[in-house]
Amino acid sequence: MSSPGLELDGIVFRQGGWTLAADLVVRRGELLALIGASGAGKSTLLSLAAGFERPLSGRILVNGRAVTDLPPASRPITTLFQEHNLFAHLSALDNVALGLDPGLRLTAADRRTAQEALSRVELETMAHRRPGKLSGGERQRVAIARALVMKRPVLLLDEPFAALGPALRRAMLDLVSRLARESGLTVVMVSHDPADARRIADTVAFMDDGRILLTGPTDSVLDSPVLPELVRYLDPDSDPGPP
Ligand SMILES: Nc1ncnc2c1ncn2[C@@H]1O[C@H](COP(=O)(O)OP(=O)(O)OP(=O)(O)O)[C@@H](O)[C@H]1O
Ligand SMILES: [Mg+2]
Repeated sequence: MSSPGLELDGIVFRQGGWTLAADLVVRRGELLALIGASGAGKSTLLSLAAGFERPLSGRILVNGRAVTDLPPASRPITTLFQEHNLFAHLSALDNVALGLDPGLRLTAADRRTAQEALSRVELETMAHRRPGKLSGGERQRVAIARALVMKRPVLLLDEPFAALGPALRRAMLDLVSRLARESGLTVVMVSHDPADARRIADTVAFMDDGRILLTGPTDSVLDSPVLPELVRYLDPDSDPGPP
């Protein structure tokens, strides 16, 4: 089995009266789906990994190296959110190129690299459009292209395709999974929908009230759930059984 790509080691975080406490190991090149009810703490967990939130205690490691004290921009991690991944005043090409040089002092080679990344997400003809002139799916493809040129080993996805229709969402999931596997990325994808996990994830982690209750291979976690919290999550109408 490959070595750890992303590790959350004894992470504790509090906001208001709510506590998150989590340990998680995602192997290098593994695609893990993080599922759980609304408010379980999925986005908070990603924010902690990415560095937008700081834990009270615990360590975060990427490929064995501690990143706990680094700001988000210095972590070898890219995060894709549901929206607002792009700058409205920049073209698709420049939005991608920001991943190469945040100051956009671009060489001819940088422009070629950005253009090639747009081709990989099939947007080569839209390089000069601004985000306002792109569809939601196209905007997310630009954001994926930028993630590709950044070449950071860990990719975090917080429901980036939730606003898209079912067919487009499936196509986007397939695209991201293909590109991630080609590049050997370690991926954590938050999803509300177990079908998304089945489609692309190697492993599933189930979160409930700030805890990761279960991690395992996608099929075995979803096909024969035993944990009452997971059974309820997968089928809210199920009989909870005797107390
Ligand atoms: N900025 C904040 N300040 C205080 N509490 C917050 C803040 N953001 C989230 N919370 C609380 O933290 C808990 C976890 O929220 P989080 O957004 O991580 O859940 P989630 O699993 O991503 O939910 P969803 O599926 O709805 O996106 C919830 O109880 C939420 O109310
Ligand atoms: Mg969330």
